Amino acid sequence: MTRRIIVTTALCYSNGPLHLGHILEQTQADIWVRYLKQKGHQCIFLSGEDAHGTPIMVAAKKQGLDVENYIASIAESHLSDIKGFQINYDYYHSTHSDENKELCEDIFDRIQPHIEKRTIEQFFDVHEKMFLPDRFIKGTCPKCGAKEQYGDSCEVCGAFYQPTQLIDPHSTLTNTTPEIRKTDHLFFKLSELQPFICKWLEESNIQDAAKNKLSEWTSETLHDWDITRDAPYFGFLIPGYKDKYFYVWMDAPIGYIAALKAYCSTRDELNIEDLWWENTQSEIYHFVGKDIMYFHGVFWPAVLKAANIQTPTSLFTHGFLTINKEKMSKSKGTFISAAKYLETYPSDALRYYFASKLNDQIQDIDINWEDFAQKVNSDIVGKIVNIGSRCSKIIINHFDGNIKSNFEDSLPENKDLLIALEELITQVDDAYHQRKFSIVVKLISTFADHTNQFIADHAPWKLVKENQMDRAHSLCSMGLFAFAQIIALLYPVTPTLAKNTFSYLGLPITWRVAFPDYFSISSFPRLFERIDADAIS
Ligand code: 2FM
Ligand code: ZN
Repeated sequence: MTRRIIVTTALCYSNGPLHLGHILEQTQADIWVRYLKQKGHQCIFLSGEDAHGTPIMVAAKKQGLDVENYIASIAESHLSDIKGFQINYDYYHSTHSDENKELCEDIFDRIQPHIEKRTIEQFFDVHEKMFLPDRFIKGTCPKCGAKEQYGDSCEVCGAFYQPTQLIDPHSTLTNTTPEIRKTDHLFFKLSELQPFICKWLEESNIQDAAKNKLSEWTSETLHDWDITRDAPYFGFLIPGYKDKYFYVWMDAPIGYIAALKAYCSTRDELNIEDLWWENTQSEIYHFVGKDIMYFHGVFWPAVLKAANIQTPTSLFTHGFLTINKEKMSKSKGTFISAAKYLETYPSDALRYYFASKLNDQIQDIDINWEDFAQKVNSDIVGKIVNIGSRCSKIIINHFDGNIKSNFEDSLPENKDLLIALEELITQVDDAYHQRKFSIVVKLISTFADHTNQFIADHAPWKLVKENQMDRAHSLCSMGLFAFAQIIALLYPVTPTLAKNTFSYLGLPITWRVAFPDYFSISSFPRLFERIDADAIS
């Protein structure tokens, strides 16, 4: 049955380069989407720029740039990285778009019964003439006394608090003491949606660890959510209010729908009302990091429910990326931007390495560059490409490049390998389906070992010497077929390798490979270069 599936990755903040952590999530989702499309499902893959909020406004100002120009230049660099890693979005949009503005206003209108105006007290930087977000205030932790802690939580003792509870608070913008001022804000009454959220968590089939964490939060009364920010702010003005903007986390997830809407406008046959609106039946999945699970597992479904729009089917939460088991750090030189990686290594190498570690759980994923080079060289070069290279050489040197037409049936040994290949296809299918990519990689590298052993055991080069030409021809044709099928199964993980291989073979990339009756090949190209672990240093 063809499924209709919408897949998103977290929108990227428009205030810095993409790093390998972003690429981890985007690769994870891209592999799944490529697999689904290869299996013939209707799948729409979306993401975009998360362009609003104070940090972006401040960053643009620091660089002396107009914020619109600033976000445009960041979007351009993000898109180049995304392309470089072969992340194949159907549409990559921005929250700073007409579609998003219109949707935010519509959704705001729809959730009116759950909105309440309240007066709150907030820190105000008198010199910058602006209210300060929690992350722009530092001070001494009211619980443990640690100095220089942010306005929302203490990195030393883990306490959460209000910025007004900090001792000796100061603005990180001007290093002056902010004033407490009153301001009116709009609150989304999350507590009214609490029974729905609890039900959604039960029904949405999210990973157990994510469900447990979210249920911990939802087992207590949920705090109503402040969806407003005061001017100056970079975002959308709230209709009917003066100098009040939608908080960035209100308009960001709406950006997913905006991306879909923009995509629909490029395709006559697609329509947002059929795909993701009131009575739609799409499957909707968000790939997110564990740090933004709360937004996607609590606020977002609640807003959608309140607006009478289809809620997500599920969340796929992943862990953080570490380098040598530590958080990426600029000072330790382990912070690696997507662009820096691409100057050094091919995208397929990291995609393969990530896949070899990814499963459906929320574990952190570690990169160790020695291990990376070892794995990629040993599996891709040493095992997989090796099959194609050794078989094609014999076919070219002794059989004019012609594949034996009935190689499947001509030898009992070939039949055995074909049966094993069928089993591999079923198991790989199952593992992709469940997003257990480490199992995909393991199955394929084990099968590549098996195929290399098959070739070694039957030694077609010896058969050639002994003039058993027919047998040698059959075995090498079988080996080349197994190689092509393995590469096709790996297409979601290593799309560049697959494209180059199939363009060499002159065949389309399909889930199941079929060789034409009369089929010949030319000399085998260099499909993958060995990589050097030290290059990254
Ligand atoms: O955490 C982040 O990087 C956010 N920019 C993700 C937003 S996801 C969605 F809600 F838009
Ligand atoms: Zn503390």
